[in-house]
Amino acid sequence: MDDKFPLIIAPSVLSADFAALGSAVASIEASGAEWVHWDVMDGRFVPNLSFGPPVIQALRPRSSLFFDVHLMVENPSFMAGESVKAGANAVTFHWEAEVHHHRLVETLHQQGVKAGIALVPSTPVEAVKELLPFLDIVLIMTVNPGFGGQKYLTFCESKLQKLLSWRAENSWNYRISVDGGIQTATAPQAVASGADTLVTGSAFFSAQDPREYVRSLRGGRE
Ligand code: DX5
Ligand code: ZN
Repeated sequence: MDDKFPLIIAPSVLSADFAALGSAVASIEASGAEWVHWDVMDGRFVPNLSFGPPVIQALRPRSSLFFDVHLMVENPSFMAGESVKAGANAVTFHWEAEVHHHRLVETLHQQGVKAGIALVPSTPVEAVKELLPFLDIVLIMTVNPGFGGQKYLTFCESKLQKLLSWRAENSWNYRISVDGGIQTATAPQAVASGADTLVTGSAFFSAQDPREYVRSLRGGRE
């Protein structure tokens, strides 16, 4: 683990009880996790429809945690702006959903938030190489996006390894985030491959003791 990128745990609200989002965010806060991961889905880029900026805005006053918005939408440039207004601290959009990636990254930075790019499992990591000097987060999907509770796809780990070596070789500053099927059995191999930010949904919200679960992801350290 690179000291410059201490491990961050980002529970995904997608797997929470949507009838009690206030307590879901409170449970994330109480668990010792650092980020709240918001999976915004439009039912077009992915076959599921989740929630949007109004919901994020409603929960913003309930937490001081870092709001990490993951846009799985066909029109990320519009939704990115709305997410920033709703209180996002970072907006990650899909490489596959945008043409002018660099322009949107610059816009997000001008709006004072962190900018990330997400890749579905079949997209080679080389696709974002030109953007890496400008990014704060690269989000490697280890499931096909749209739903929580899916099986971790180990073939995506090679992307984590490449991102780790490119970052070190070039002293770039992006976090390497992994998203999909992360739980106690898969987190160690994701971290060993290079991940320093772990998005975890179903395993977090099904944990008997979320605090203990978060500790387990840190290898038993606080
Ligand atoms: C899937 C979302 C993920 C998902 C993770 O499209 O981007 O963030 O909520 O859920 P688990 O951890 O259950 O795979
Ligand atoms: Zn996500």
